[in-house]
Amino acid sequence: MAYEWIDHTFDVVVVGAGGAGLRAALGAAQGGLKTACITKVFPTRSHTVAAQGGIAASLGNMSDDSWQWHMYDTVKGSDWLGDQDAIEYMCREAPQTVYELEHWGLPFSRTEEGKIYQRPFGGHMKEFGKTPAQRACAAADRTGHTLIHTLYGECVRAQTDFYIEYFVLDLIMEDGECRGVLAWKLDDGTLHRFKAQAVILATGGFGRSYFSCTSAHTCTGDGGGMVLRAGLPLQDLEFIQFHPTGIYGGGMLITEGARGEGGYLVNSEGERFMERYAPTAKDLASRDVVSRAMTIEIREGRGVGPKKDHIYLHLDHLPADLLHKRLPGISESAKIFAGVDVTKEPIPVLPTVHYNMGGIPTNFNGEVVCPKDGDQDATVPGLYAAGEAASASVHGANRLGCNSLLDIVVFGRSAGLRCVDTLKAGARQRELPKDAGEASLKRFDAIRNANGKTSTADLRLHMQETMQTFAAVFRTGDSLSEGAGEVAKIWSMAKDMKVTDHSMIWNSDLVESLEFYNLLEQATVLINAALAREESRGAHAREDFADRDDKKWMKHTLGWVDETGKVKLDYRPVHTYTMTDEIDYIEPAVRVY
Ligand code: FUM
Repeated sequence: MAYEWIDHTFDVVVVGAGGAGLRAALGAAQGGLKTACITKVFPTRSHTVAAQGGIAASLGNMSDDSWQWHMYDTVKGSDWLGDQDAIEYMCREAPQTVYELEHWGLPFSRTEEGKIYQRPFGGHMKEFGKTPAQRACAAADRTGHTLIHTLYGECVRAQTDFYIEYFVLDLIMEDGECRGVLAWKLDDGTLHRFKAQAVILATGGFGRSYFSCTSAHTCTGDGGGMVLRAGLPLQDLEFIQFHPTGIYGGGMLITEGARGEGGYLVNSEGERFMERYAPTAKDLASRDVVSRAMTIEIREGRGVGPKKDHIYLHLDHLPADLLHKRLPGISESAKIFAGVDVTKEPIPVLPTVHYNMGGIPTNFNGEVVCPKDGDQDATVPGLYAAGEAASASVHGANRLGCNSLLDIVVFGRSAGLRCVDTLKAGARQRELPKDAGEASLKRFDAIRNANGKTSTADLRLHMQETMQTFAAVFRTGDSLSEGAGEVAKIWSMAKDMKVTDHSMIWNSDLVESLEFYNLLEQATVLINAALAREESRGAHAREDFADRDDKKWMKHTLGWVDETGKVKLDYRPVHTYTMTDEIDYIEPAVRVY
């Protein structure tokens, strides 16, 4: 069948309409740039809508706070793999970014005096780690929902051009520069070429490469797949966060805000075991610490339930009106997905895949980085990324709760602003190369007509079970190498893929097959990068290398994968320097390594 392109020209094209995409699009559009936002789902259905607990910012409304304390916690939480200039940028910008959202109408919960309500969250402390801070700005337990609706409204006001239910296939690259993207319009089957001065990828994480995760079914890492197919690397994929409280069985998120409001975890002996593992922060220790502690409790026979394979989260001691006011969403989720009335019974929970710390490497302006000619921070002209798709890298080896909503708005904004600073609205763009899109179309056609015997659903399940089993909370060289072998087998099995629907309109079989490859490419880099990293750091807990090894491993992993599933790894230095000298009073031993 002959395919035809419909061509479009914009100053800026944003791919993805979660919090990062919308904030980037808004910044670019408000700055006078002709901006398109392309998304495979309606914007307010993007996964940001599911974010619950809050957005971190040192407003100091409910306890003393400072951006320097926030920065300290984030560097420490990242297990010293975060880039400190980017972390400084994020923590300094946080208060003004939150006030901006408030002024656009985000309906935050309020204190008695009418200030933005802030709750405690894991790893967020006062006075450089001494006592818990209240830093998470919350709209009950529906912060992401309110955030995305607020941003979508502002984008419409700023006249962003939305292309909704378009599936972006690939980047258009020319001599190392990004010139635009190729997309398939799902409701009428047409194909589109978007030429742009800048492309901003804000396509979210790839949590769906695992069997049990808090991520929506749409979280298939499409931007990461495009970057890998363009021959560019992804960074630090081995660091995958398990959220301590996914509902047992289903994986739906129970916000850490539940523990922030006073909830606690118990084992089969009724013990509040976190007091043993983290005597100061207890249930609000950082997520890697809590997830590991829960896993150890279960392994040592102190799990709850008939199979002793999960843990209880108690909220039943909290006043019913507090649960109703501050945690209405998770009270409903617990009822629907676990059959539990939170005012009377504990919720059965289990660590569940939640977040990709790694992603498309960028600097704090959102510009995509790919080392070149000895320059470790060289940028790729025309290409930006923000949000969970990106690795700025503010989360390093482990993200603190509520730093994700912050990351998406701060770095979505910085990418949009950088475009406004560096591009000229309506500047003439040279023609695309004649063959732009041909290779991508060939691949698209081959997948569309794949006529083997193995369904995409079976291939995907095999991958998800492999990742869940072999790249789990705890890892060993043996488990990872068995997993890497299994993933290699899935690449071979995928040659026998069967796509049953060959049409171009609302073809969910084909969408899922394209998404499957995006997931598989990243899962492959993840498991091989994890096998190579012989240390334990943040969320990467190697039982055969139990200690952090700063001498050898305080560096970012870069991973490439080719079209056969073969991985290449390299490394680049962590930024241990800051943007300014305004953190001088943070002890040098903490600041510079
Ligand atoms: O627990 C939560 O509400 C999740 C927050 C986050 O991942 O930042």
